[in-house]
Amino acid sequence: MYNSRILAAGHYVPERIVTNDELSQMMNTSNEWIVERTGIQERRWYTPGIDTVTNMAAKASKMAMDRAGVQQDDIDFIIFATITPDYFLPGNGVLLQREMGFKTIGALDIRNACSGFIYALSVADQFIKTGMYQKILVVGAEIQSSALDKSDDGRSSAVIFADGAGAVVVGRAEAGQTGIISTHLHSEGSHAEELYCIAPSSSGKERISKELIERGDFFLKMNGNAVFKHAVVRFMEVIQEALAFNQMTKDDIDLLVPHQANLRISQYIQQKLELPDQKVFNNIMHLGNTTAGTIPIALSQAWEQGRLKENDLICLAAFGSGFSWASAMLRW
Ligand code: UT7
Repeated sequence: MYNSRILAAGHYVPERIVTNDELSQMMNTSNEWIVERTGIQERRWYTPGIDTVTNMAAKASKMAMDRAGVQQDDIDFIIFATITPDYFLPGNGVLLQREMGFKTIGALDIRNACSGFIYALSVADQFIKTGMYQKILVVGAEIQSSALDKSDDGRSSAVIFADGAGAVVVGRAEAGQTGIISTHLHSEGSHAEELYCIAPSSSGKERISKELIERGDFFLKMNGNAVFKHAVVRFMEVIQEALAFNQMTKDDIDLLVPHQANLRISQYIQQKLELPDQKVFNNIMHLGNTTAGTIPIALSQAWEQGRLKENDLICLAAFGSGFSWASAMLRW
C-alpha cells in the first residue's frame, strides 16, 4: 500500500466578469440582496465560442502539472468531475485526454455535482494506494451559466452559479509523508429533485423536444431553502466524521476549504467550529459557485496565497445536488 498526496493544484476561470449590477439588468434582483444572502459580489461566466468545459479544464490541468513538475507522459489516469459536460456523450475525461495530447490513458467521469471533486479525489486515492497508478489528474470543471434561467423565475440560482475549472495532480507520497489521510462519501437520493436538471433525459419521450424547451426543463432547478437547511447539517456532520475517524479535533485543522455554495453556509460552519478567519478559505465573493470546480480552484488559489504549508492539516468538505456530500482530510 502506498499513501497518496496532492502534488499541486491549478485553475482557470473565464475572463468575463459578471457583476451583481449586470444581473440586476437581466432579472429582478439587486447587488444588496445578492451580497447579503450569498456573499457573492461577482462571478465568471463563459463566452460561447471561446470557453468550453474541456479547454478550461486543460488550462487548469496544465497549471497543476507545471507546478507539480510532471510531464505529459507521467499522467496515467484522468478523473473528471462535472455535471455540465461539453457533450451528452462521450464524457469530458476523454475530451481532456484528446485536448492534452495524452497517451491512451484511462479517463473516468464523475457526476456528483458539488461533491464531485471530493468523490474524484477519493477514487484517485484508492488507485494510488493499490499501486495501480502513480500520477492521476483530478479535475473539477463546469459551465453552469448556460443552464441558468436568467429571468425572475430562476433568479435564486442564477445569482449563485458560475463557471470555472480546477485541477490537481495526485501522486504517491514520499516515504514518511501521509498526504490524503481519509475521505468520507455520502448520498441521499430522496432529495434528488431539490436541485436538478431534467433534460436532456433518456427516459423522456424524446431527449429534446419543443415542449421540453418551452417548459424550461433544461434549466437548473433549485429549492434554495431546502438545500440550505440540509447543507448546514451535512457539512457539519461530514467534517465531524472526518475528525472523529482520525481522532482529531477541530483545533487540529489548519485550513478548512469548504465547497463554495454560499458564503452564509461557510460562515455558519466556521462559527459552529469556532475557527478563526485565517483557517477558512473563501473565494465565492469573486467566483460564485462553480459546483465541482470550487474546491480545486480554492486549493490552487490557497496555494498561491501561501495558505497551504507543508504538514498543514487541510479539511475539504462539500454538499450539493443528490443530495450527496463528502469530506477529505489531507496532510499537505
Ligand atoms: O452548491 C450547493 C447547492 N446550492 C446551495 O447550497 C445553495 C443553498 N441555498 C441558498 O444559498 C439560498 O437558499 C439562496 C441564496 C438560493 C436563496 O436565499 P434565501 O435566503 O434562502 O432566500 P429565499 O429563497 O428564502 O427567498 C427569500 C425572498 C423570496 O421572496 P419573498 O417570497 O420573501 O417575497 C424570494 O423570492 O427572496 C426572494 N429572492 C430574491 N430576491 C432578489 C430569491 N432570489 C432572489 C434574488 N434577488 N436573486
